[in-house]
Amino acid sequence: MTVPTIGVGILGCGPVTQAIHLPTLDRFSETFHVARVMDVDPDVAKAVAGHAGSAWTTSADELIADADVQVVVICSPNQFHAEQVIAACRAGKKAVLAEKPLAVSREEAQEIARVSAETGVPIVVGAMHTFDPGWLAATENWADLIEKTHTIRYSIVLPPNPRFEDFATEILPRVERTWPQQSAADRAAGMMFGNIMGLAIHDLPLVRMFCPDFRDIELLSAQTLSPGGYLVNLRIGDRSVQLYGHSTQSWRPEWRFEAIADDQSLLVDFPNSYVHAGSAVATFRNGDESRTFGPYAANGYEAEWQYMADLVAGTAEPLDLQVLIDDLVFALTIADVATAEVRQNAEKTEVSA
Ligand SMILES: NC(=O)c1ccc[n+]([C@@H]2O[C@H](COP(=O)([O-])OP(=O)(O)OC[C@H]3O[C@@H](n4cnc5c(N)ncnc54)[C@H](O)[C@@H]3O)[C@@H](O)[C@H]2O)c1
Repeated sequence: MTVPTIGVGILGCGPVTQAIHLPTLDRFSETFHVARVMDVDPDVAKAVAGHAGSAWTTSADELIADADVQVVVICSPNQFHAEQVIAACRAGKKAVLAEKPLAVSREEAQEIARVSAETGVPIVVGAMHTFDPGWLAATENWADLIEKTHTIRYSIVLPPNPRFEDFATEILPRVERTWPQQSAADRAAGMMFGNIMGLAIHDLPLVRMFCPDFRDIELLSAQTLSPGGYLVNLRIGDRSVQLYGHSTQSWRPEWRFEAIADDQSLLVDFPNSYVHAGSAVATFRNGDESRTFGPYAANGYEAEWQYMADLVAGTAEPLDLQVLIDDLVFALTIADVATAEVRQNAEKTEVSA
């Protein structure tokens, strides 16, 4: 007798669905099938359903009401995440996987926490590095590094996403975006907030683990970088934290997390988003000694979907929602202070010009 596979419903069929989740779900075809996909654009929904061999719709309500959809994946633009997470929880689905960020405000986060507690539906955030086997090996081997760390550096250098999306898989042609005319201050503020909540947010949960006093945040400096990026220096409790992200055309992508103490350090090199090429590599250094973990065969996306399978099977514990909310509030606080700083600096420059 064949065991029925778990039906997955996907809200939003853009590059992340096409280049990340569908190829990963393909590798889990003994566990999951894509039951239905939804996009507000019917052409996109229909084309992606053709690849996935699923039904399609332009209505989120219809997808959520589909009895064959047991797990809902939210890959819509960020501003829709909270309402769609809440609707999937209210429909009593087995689990919800929301792409990062879980929500875009503290109020939305609190509402998600309330509804998840009320309905008991487990929520997972698509922060794939937190599932990455290389990172998990680091968590099992860092002994007293968290207590001893004084400096955290988290840097991302990458070509613009479309290059990775194109390498990752065949995806539908992208719709060209047009940007409204903006003042320099609005542009700087938009870039900083978007970069922290869209890019840095991937590993801010990792940074937070190394900051026991994570609510005590002081901004030291914040700059936007040309053509796109950010450099933010913070004091968090007694830790120095540097966040650097730069989107360039150069071909030396880097995605790196470092925790540094006087006598030891951890360096984790992650594969870029979209890249299905094994796990991160974690290296501990202590004096002249070094120990390396990884790369392992599974990447963070596969580990994330394995966790979803275990969650539905009841063999994995749900994530602590308070941790996910604290991660989101941590990211929002950093985004808010850094955004205010670059806005103020740009306004001062405009006045003096
Ligand atoms: N985990 C990762 O590695 C990773 C990488 C990049 C982006 N992301 C996240 O994944 C999500 C999707 O990213 P993307 O680049 O595919 O986004 P996108 O904005 O390019 O595409 C989203 C799709 O959603 C559709 N859409 C618009 N409104 C909708 C609605 N109300 N309901 C459902 N669909 C709607 C759009 O038509 C589009 O096809 C974002 O939240 C982003 O932050 C994750």
